[in-house]
Amino acid sequence: MPVVPITNLQFKDKKVLVRCDFNVPIAEGKIQDPARIDASLDTIRYILEHGGVAVLCSHLGRPKERSAEFSLKPVAEYLTNVLGQKVKLAPDCVGDHTGKMIEALKPGEAILLENLRFHKEEEANDRDFSHELARYKQVYVNDGFGTAHRAHASTVGVTRFLSERAAGFLMMRELDALRKVTENPQRPSVAIMGGAKVSDKIGLIKNLLNKVDSILIGGAMAYTFLKAQGIAVGRSRVEDDKIELAKELLADAGRKGVKIILPSDHIVAGAPEAAATPHTVTEIPSEMMGLDIGPQTVDTFIAEIARAKTVIWNGPLGFFEVPAFATGTMRVGEALANQAGVISIIGGGDTAAAIAHAPWANKFTHISTGGGATLEFLEGRELPGVKALEV
Ligand code: 3PG
Repeated sequence: MPVVPITNLQFKDKKVLVRCDFNVPIAEGKIQDPARIDASLDTIRYILEHGGVAVLCSHLGRPKERSAEFSLKPVAEYLTNVLGQKVKLAPDCVGDHTGKMIEALKPGEAILLENLRFHKEEEANDRDFSHELARYKQVYVNDGFGTAHRAHASTVGVTRFLSERAAGFLMMRELDALRKVTENPQRPSVAIMGGAKVSDKIGLIKNLLNKVDSILIGGAMAYTFLKAQGIAVGRSRVEDDKIELAKELLADAGRKGVKIILPSDHIVAGAPEAAATPHTVTEIPSEMMGLDIGPQTVDTFIAEIARAKTVIWNGPLGFFEVPAFATGTMRVGEALANQAGVISIIGGGDTAAAIAHAPWANKFTHISTGGGATLEFLEGRELPGVKALEV
């Protein structure tokens, strides 16, 4: 069922509860990567320009109790800067005092509510708390795609009390991009998969086996697949309890005619450390561990991608935190970014973090702001925060 887009609603003189995912990395009070905030700016501006009051809300981290460490204060300051107008931080997301602050706002003004997770009722999707959150507002817009896999008060419960509701521009962009991969993708369609653990990606691989023509596997998870094929992987990270599963996935791919391409050469070292000396090998020596795909594998991956019309990428292809083991991720990323005529979707989380600062990062069709939400969507699961916006 379709969700209502933000452009279908009237905002003039209305107080709008806007659920964003401002769960950004913050260190010593400084935002380390504002990408998620920036991604919702068009939604916020649209509401303000159409005469609404934007009552912004989000969680930050996983606080056990109210504490300054988990305050959204740096986000309010950032918003004040980029919007060019004061965005006050209400000291709480609910209550009479916050209500008065909201009532005092004029059309075109915005306020940010303090961390939703300072109340345990948020994650419990508590009915009374949802009712409180809805108070003083007439319209609900959800732009927090990154939290859409959580059935919380601010993503689901509140829609019981605010019947006028819609998806913001970021939410629409995310759904549109991810549907391009999962619903009748333009073929050939290729998935690039990486990351540390097969166990994190089982649902994803199973679902993508029904959607794509080939899967290129890198990252530490590749070694579990290689070991499943009887190939020596030295001291590489392997999930021994997932070897049988890896065999099943390979067999399933064979039955479905999906090509799985595993690394044929590797960058190895004694340890995943900047001080370690990297070597390029086709056979991993017993005392070494694989930490990146090798140059021959990079070329194979790039050649496969070059034939594709749709590419979804989830997970870095090496231990990218150490520059010596980031080459595979960067070379494949650059080739994909520069490929004309391909729909290229970057699944969020680690993949987005790995390539975010590369000069070609803005050339992909879409970089998802979701981590868990993107993964669950690609696994074919229904996101409660999206379901709550359907009409
Ligand atoms: C995320 O960072 O993936 C989202 O903000 C959701 O956060 P959570 O996993 O703490 O619910």
